[in-house]
Amino acid sequence: MPVLTIRQIGDPVLRTPASAVQDPTDSRIRTLIADMFATMDHASGIGLAAPQVGIGLRIFTWDVEGSRGAVINPQLELSGPPGFVPRAEADGQDAVVREGCLSVRGPVHGPVSRHPHAVLTGVDETGQPIREEAENLLAACFQHEVDHLDGTLFIDRLTGDRRREAMRALRSLETTP
Ligand code: NI
Repeated sequence: MPVLTIRQIGDPVLRTPASAVQDPTDSRIRTLIADMFATMDHASGIGLAAPQVGIGLRIFTWDVEGSRGAVINPQLELSGPPGFVPRAEADGQDAVVREGCLSVRGPVHGPVSRHPHAVLTGVDETGQPIREEAENLLAACFQHEVDHLDGTLFIDRLTGDRRREAMRALRSLETTP
């Protein structure tokens, strides 16, 4: 299970909507998912979408607070008002999650406004249906990863000062070798 190279912002694959997987049981899909788990774990990520490793297919993996899995051809049903910012334990304290991305290096973070609840459906690599109900951080992770499959990055969802700060940080990354 090789660790794959994580594509960084500026790479067109991150901005290209991914295609549906035609045969989820294809052994190449199984291998890709195993490699994505290895890559996500190596990077200490909580989610990874196939376009982030250069593959334009609708697949992502996640590992959030004890929930771990992979989904092929995901659909998300969102509920609750948008404008929710997930919270998690940090250093023993309940804190707002500063959303980031393995494809956006450097000090560029949220918070990003999300829906508080999500129901994820799709199939696994044996073709069996998957259904995961999620809230809080896991729900936000699912929204972040499905965004990747549509060519959207979390920075696109920042507003106001947060967006200006992020753009400034990204410009300084571009000029740093
Ligand atoms: Ni990401």
